[in-house]
Amino acid sequence: MCGIFGYIGEKEALPYILEGLKKLEYRGYDSSGVAVLKNGKVTCVKKEGKIKNLEKALEKKDLSGKIGIGHTRWATHGRPSDENSHPHADCKGEIFVVHNGIIENYLMLRRALAEKGHKFHSTTDTEVLAHLIEEHLKGNLEEAVRGALREVEGSYAIAVICSKYPDQIVAARKASPLVIGIEENGTFISSDIPALLKYTSKVIYLKDEEIATVKRKKGHICTLSGKPVKRKPVFISWDPESAEKGGYSHFMLKEIHEQPKAIRDTLKGRIRPDKAEIHFDEMKFSADDFKKINRVVFTACGTSWHAGLVGEYLFEQIAKVMTEVEYAAEFRYRDPVMDDKTLVIAISQSGETADTLAAIEEAKEKGAKVLSICNVVGSSIARESDAVVYTYAGPEIGVASTKAFTTQLTVIYLLALLMGQVKGTISKADIKQRISELLELPQKMESLLEREKDVEEIASRYYECSNALYLGRGKGFPIALEGALKLKEVSYIHAEGYPAAEMKHGPIALIDKNMPVVVLALQGRRYEKILGNIEEVKARGGIVIAVANEGDDDIWEKADEVIFIPRTSEIISTLLAIVPLQLFAYYIAVKRGCHIDQPRNLAKSVTVE
Ligand code: M6R
Repeated sequence: MCGIFGYIGEKEALPYILEGLKKLEYRGYDSSGVAVLKNGKVTCVKKEGKIKNLEKALEKKDLSGKIGIGHTRWATHGRPSDENSHPHADCKGEIFVVHNGIIENYLMLRRALAEKGHKFHSTTDTEVLAHLIEEHLKGNLEEAVRGALREVEGSYAIAVICSKYPDQIVAARKASPLVIGIEENGTFISSDIPALLKYTSKVIYLKDEEIATVKRKKGHICTLSGKPVKRKPVFISWDPESAEKGGYSHFMLKEIHEQPKAIRDTLKGRIRPDKAEIHFDEMKFSADDFKKINRVVFTACGTSWHAGLVGEYLFEQIAKVMTEVEYAAEFRYRDPVMDDKTLVIAISQSGETADTLAAIEEAKEKGAKVLSICNVVGSSIARESDAVVYTYAGPEIGVASTKAFTTQLTVIYLLALLMGQVKGTISKADIKQRISELLELPQKMESLLEREKDVEEIASRYYECSNALYLGRGKGFPIALEGALKLKEVSYIHAEGYPAAEMKHGPIALIDKNMPVVVLALQGRRYEKILGNIEEVKARGGIVIAVANEGDDDIWEKADEVIFIPRTSEIISTLLAIVPLQLFAYYIAVKRGCHIDQPRNLAKSVTVE
């Protein structure tokens, strides 16, 4: 939700900032802007729309200088426009601010500042920051920023430059991510790691209510109350190539194809097939901690919430623990009942989703233990949890989540097995069998991806539809939800996921020859029932696209289209079944000419409420 990037060093700042903003564009693309300082003057250019509009505007300007900041916006307060784009400036045009987050008391602050004579040029919450800093500026920029932030309520990651202080960028954060990247000839600030990978792997995470004065070489960090902070840089192991498209037309397609590797990496070092044991070295919980848990609550948003729904089945079936799944935004305000025997599992790819972070705080306050499943090492959610297990999917850049989902499912399955192992609800032989199936998953996914063309062909027959229904039973139901979400996000086709048996209670009225019904018809306990649901759709003239296991010859007679996935156990089939649905959504979006990696109105990481 908005990306910020800054550079101070020996080189020209603008090329770094533009490159950084392009990497951050997935966080928001309603507008973008840059401000560069040279010879005691800041020049600012900002434009509504994507970064290419900004680049065009920059063709006519000289923005040379070795210190600057930039922003790519996902609008919250104030519609997308040139005026509402960041950076925002004070009255004198000396102080420039970029911001990710929401200043909740901005109206009150704005009124007070206006009474003092400040002139506003936008309708954003952010602009008050520039004027507040102006009010507080009495010879020290960091002090002025600190003074301004003390008056502010809400969330922020900010970067500030001022024409009077050409040797520093002041940055601060509260509930929005910010990282400092250190390179020999300069220092960067960024909303996330992938935007830095091309330049450095040496980073310092800023924590909540910390303020950093970033200089070409040495800078420093303090708390908002002025206490100095000493923090060593950490080294990021992500490969810079992983933040590039690598020959694919879109990040989404690349990331779909990366799933076998991401799952392999996620499994690596965590299972010992010979011993039928599961270990998470980084997880701080002991077997005893796990033993006393009598209730599990998954909490997350979006795709990660769908992963939690699969988790509910797995934890109840394997570990026999009462399990629930909660939308993080609902959970945080519901005054949930829990105690120290409750394990809250928060799932988040980015580790920065505001609602999930708040749900964690709520759970901890209520005495529950919190374990998070995150993809971004050192992210806010990872840090705030009592323990963390990482998915090793690598950077996920496409706004539609793909490889994060399948690696989350992989970790959840391992955790369910681990809890079953600790609680003695699953035999060693059973664990061994399941582990060997899980180890075969990446290779099975590779063979499934080889049939990409079949899915593309099916997509070419349905890309003009306006609505779609996705049906599944059991663990297939969350997959139906996820398939429908993928289609909505990237193709803008209205799609609904439903438990197949519920179809008769309403959605059946929608069925006609124009609406494809995607049915997860996987082998397992509910197979016969799902065939019954297919009959119900066909009897009403509906079109059925079935996802079925290889060797299921009967399905041909019932469905209009069949996408086969390898024959394997019910759980592994669940993990495989989402892949053709991701591809289906992708190819439909391609045929509709949609902006696949940056769908309209969306942002990759929702760091505001
Ligand atoms: O980073 P998180 O996993 O916390 O993000 C949660 C959702 O915002 C995210 O899954 C969103 O629904 C994706 N766009 C789905 O493709």
